[in-house]
Amino acid sequence: MNVGVVLGTRPEIIKMSPLIRELESRGIEHDIIHSGQHYDEEVSDIFFQELELDEPDRYLGVGSGSQGEQTGKALIKLEETFRELDTDIVLVQGDTNTVLAGALAGVKMGLTVGHVEAGLRSYDYRMPEEYNRRLSDHSSHLLFAPTAESKRKLVSESVWGEIYVTGNTVIDACMQNMEIAERKASFDFDIPEHFVLVTAHRAENVDDPEVQKNFIRSFEDIDTPMIYPIHPRAEERFKTEENLEELSEIENMNLVPPQGYLEFLVLMKRSEFILTDSGGIQEEATAPNIKKKVFVLRESTERPEAVDAGYCEVVGTETEAIIESVSDFDMKTWDPKGCPYGDGKAAEKIVDVLKKGSECGLSFRIY
Ligand code: UD1
Ligand code: UDP
Repeated sequence: MNVGVVLGTRPEIIKMSPLIRELESRGIEHDIIHSGQHYDEEVSDIFFQELELDEPDRYLGVGSGSQGEQTGKALIKLEETFRELDTDIVLVQGDTNTVLAGALAGVKMGLTVGHVEAGLRSYDYRMPEEYNRRLSDHSSHLLFAPTAESKRKLVSESVWGEIYVTGNTVIDACMQNMEIAERKASFDFDIPEHFVLVTAHRAENVDDPEVQKNFIRSFEDIDTPMIYPIHPRAEERFKTEENLEELSEIENMNLVPPQGYLEFLVLMKRSEFILTDSGGIQEEATAPNIKKKVFVLRESTERPEAVDAGYCEVVGTETEAIIESVSDFDMKTWDPKGCPYGDGKAAEKIVDVLKKGSECGLSFRIY
């Protein structure tokens, strides 16, 4: 069994890291294949360093581009790479263009494809991620659903693959790294005792000048210091619309570069609450060692479990709604349920499935 671990963006590196560690510790042959969708040090290399991962075995240099161009380039290069590396099982994680390309390249070569974080649905077709995750789910042989709810969605869509409920590897990552983060995280800016953590990078938000303005108006109303590690896409789009200066000049706003994972863990843990449109942060907020309220700056979420458990509240992208929800929040009476995304052993469960298949003499080559 030779596993090709495909990744390409910041959240994939973070969420694949527990799986890579698990494959390593159980002596399972694997290659790390980086598409190069994210290439700047601050959204790629830093995570390999901080998480002490081996350098990727292959770096495909796909880079930025239109949706089709990026996905197509990754598909072509991944096919070549799986052939060169003699890959049997392809593991992809999440919903990026790299994921769809990895799943398609694998299935078209007759390899076994495992989709980690299967079964998430936002039902928002403005999001490239929504069709990436749907198409990947329907192309995969092994579907690693984080929750019973995600399994239910996969069953209702009659996917072909086998479904396993495993929890989300992001919780494994939080548990494995928080203690290290508390010791090692370093910052080149001051962290106030009380602050709100902000991130926003989703295309349907930051590519829309009206939403940019709505966010600026909302942040202006918050009277607690805010720290916003700005994603390269958001920085580029706010700059293009000539809104970056206004954003950075908001009185309580500290706009900082994207942070390393250890630093970001500490920021999440120390914050009062979080405003974000990120997917992964909605899950991390439910980790027992983070436990934070999240105002989701989106019209929908594919993480309803985090809403039902009381962590996340989808507040939309209109200024008034954001301000009203934030001002209604009372931390003293906030009482969320337990973490809905597992016990921090998702990677172990996923590798158990692969190992069991291998021990039963299953061929991972479909044809
Ligand atoms: C991608 C994923 C998104 C995920 C996010 C994680 C897709 C469709 N989107 O969005 O689901 O939440 O990664 O952070 O796969 N850029 C840089 N440096 C980089 C990478 C990107 O400056 O290293 C800038 C470029 O201007 C680029 C833009 O960011 O055009 C968008 O990058 P891209 O990878 O296409 O999408 P993300 O918005 O990062
Ligand atoms: N993150 C980070 N540094 C930052 C912002 C986020 O390390 O400055 C981490 C965060 O802890 C989470 C992941 O990046 O694990 C989320 O990535 P992102 O929001 O870019 O993507 P999404 O989860 O929305 O796909």
